[in-house]
Amino acid sequence: MSNFVSVANEDGVAVVTIDNPPVNALSFHVRKPLYEALAALRDDPAAKAIVIACAGRTFVAGSDITEFGKPVQQPELRAIIALLETIAKPTVAVIHGTALGGGLELALGCHFRIADAGAKLGLPEVKLGLLPGGGGTVRLPRLVGAQKALGMIVSGTPVSAAEAKAAGLVDAVFNGDLLAEAVRFASEIVAGGGSFVPVRDRKEVLAETHIEAFDRQAADLAKKARGLEAPLACAEAVRNAITLPFDEALAAERQLFQKLVAGDQSRAQRHLFFAEREVAKMPGKDLQKRRIERVGIIGAGTMGGGIAMAFANGGFPVTLLETGEEALQRGLAMIERNYTVSVSRGSMSEAAKQQRLALFKGSIDYADLADCDLIIEAVFEDMAVKKQVFGRLDAVARSGAILATNTSYLDVDEIAASTSRPQDVLGMHFFSPANVMKLLEIVRAEKTAPDALATVVELARRIGKVPVAVGVCHGFVGNRMLAARGAENEFLLLEGATPAQVDKAFTDFGWPMGPFQMGDLAGLDIGWRNRKARGLTAVIADTLCEQGRYGQKTGSGWYRYRSGAREPMPDLEVEALIRAKAAEHGVARRAIGAGEIIERTLYPLVNEGAKILEEGIVARAADIDVVWVNGYGFPIGKGGPMFWAGLEGAGKIVERLEYWHGQTGRPIFEPAPALRRFAESGSWEEAGGAQ
Ligand code: NAI
Repeated sequence: MSNFVSVANEDGVAVVTIDNPPVNALSFHVRKPLYEALAALRDDPAAKAIVIACAGRTFVAGSDITEFGKPVQQPELRAIIALLETIAKPTVAVIHGTALGGGLELALGCHFRIADAGAKLGLPEVKLGLLPGGGGTVRLPRLVGAQKALGMIVSGTPVSAAEAKAAGLVDAVFNGDLLAEAVRFASEIVAGGGSFVPVRDRKEVLAETHIEAFDRQAADLAKKARGLEAPLACAEAVRNAITLPFDEALAAERQLFQKLVAGDQSRAQRHLFFAEREVAKMPGKDLQKRRIERVGIIGAGTMGGGIAMAFANGGFPVTLLETGEEALQRGLAMIERNYTVSVSRGSMSEAAKQQRLALFKGSIDYADLADCDLIIEAVFEDMAVKKQVFGRLDAVARSGAILATNTSYLDVDEIAASTSRPQDVLGMHFFSPANVMKLLEIVRAEKTAPDALATVVELARRIGKVPVAVGVCHGFVGNRMLAARGAENEFLLLEGATPAQVDKAFTDFGWPMGPFQMGDLAGLDIGWRNRKARGLTAVIADTLCEQGRYGQKTGSGWYRYRSGAREPMPDLEVEALIRAKAAEHGVARRAIGAGEIIERTLYPLVNEGAKILEEGIVARAADIDVVWVNGYGFPIGKGGPMFWAGLEGAGKIVERLEYWHGQTGRPIFEPAPALRRFAESGSWEEAGGAQ
């Protein structure tokens, strides 16, 4: 007996209870007494059957991931499962809450699994760049079939109890007192003398596999993996379950797991897993939060509409304010259209759509914002307009209401100063489409009250966002670094690269698309208008816009597009334009390789991140990684720009930045002191602070 594992006997059924709050992770201090308890019960004639249950809010929700990458203390999970499979009396896993990862693998070691109707079951290891290494890839296919197993393992998404029952993963689903049902279930098997075969020995379901169909499914997944190793390893392991004897498949799974766990990709993904949990750590996080029940949004354009949907999806009533009836109706109609698309795709029911729509209240009168607890402004990106809006808000908002701006670049301190309550003002920088994108930069202005910040950070989680607190600077973390990433784009073209070459270097790196494809998708006219407003120019992009080439929406931009298609096709006219501009500016053209493209785009990205860190705009380098992975598609297998800097070698980055600085004299390449310190210490924590 231990504090973490206890055993009781109920009418001949041994009830083993794991109690390791908060999620009953399979830490060493659980595994050891669990193994000992099961070994004793195996030979105990008083126990006719064994059920394994958990105290608290969930079944075992996973392994203890703090143990990853460290030497394993025996007994490991696999030994417990192997022991379970030698027990010649019925064993039953009793699942409530979530059975995830090692938790589900433990359950797969039992003869039977019963679940609470609200339970969820899954193998999410792939999200950490791993595969289920405790036999999950070999046992799950024996219950649900190889194709279903592959889908579950590669997506990492848990299934409901009902789906698990239909698939054959659980034997029974109950409402009510699950433990009592479990004891009854086990007793009935003992009394009825029913057969109980360990999962490892089940053959029927696997025998029905069509290997060609499996291989087609695996090939489809490989195409989507975008350079990630774990999904491919998952497919290989599940295939082994079909083609190899059980023990060989299990040994092969182990080898694949060991390779992944020691690799850079899994290290990167585990870094991100922890980083996303750390972001909320900030001074004041435990302060009493402000009450947020109704949310007001000003501006029903692209962002305002999306932000309003994000809150309605989180169950919040929303007041949407526009300048006039026509703009308001246009905004509301767009929201309704978006929900209608969700219904037609089957991702939302008609009833849910009606429920969401009922949460919206449209208005053209500022007085209607008086009952809002949080008001987010998403009007034109123009300081004068924003100040005017905040002045009016100041007059109508209730005392203590949080006033937020969705500005992409503007100075939030200046906006705050246009009110009499700067302590209540902050930035909430959503990303487009705001109802979909997970990242939310929360901008802490000079006078923002810590409790206002903490309230919004917590609220962000409630609407499914990943909040990162950032300080005030032009473009905050994401857009400021994006500008650094793109600063060399036109130079690369003038000096000899094509848009397609640059984009290919990006997609080969693992980005979903390169900067020129991205520009065509977003619309080149946006940057053009911005440049004009700020008195800036871009030799090639400006000309494209003057020719009416705005990107996908006009059928041409950096690329050509067939009518209605999104597939970019290289355009000889653009290449001719680039050559002409190079000649005009006296730039000699030469071949430019992928390595140079990465050095001149991603090294400045890292360098700008180092500057942001040393200026104290973010608390941790990992916060920057969270921004880039969730907002800009930085490949997760590389862990975000700051983590990747370590993989790439900070010394090398500094050296190449110095080289390009020497070549061009451009400040973008001047290595930040924090980057130099990182190159010496290998730790952003030591390198970060201004010195
Ligand atoms: P938009 O032009 O689509 O929408 C702006 C809306 O605000 C229009 O419907 C307009 O009628 C309304 N509006 C203007 N002045 C108003 C006032 N005084 N009172 C009430 N409504 C008013 O612009 P978008 O793209 O939605 O941008 C809004 C803000 O969000 C800007 O600050 C922008 O920088 C920021 N942002 C935009 C992103 C994007 O990808 N479009 C991403 C993140 C932030």
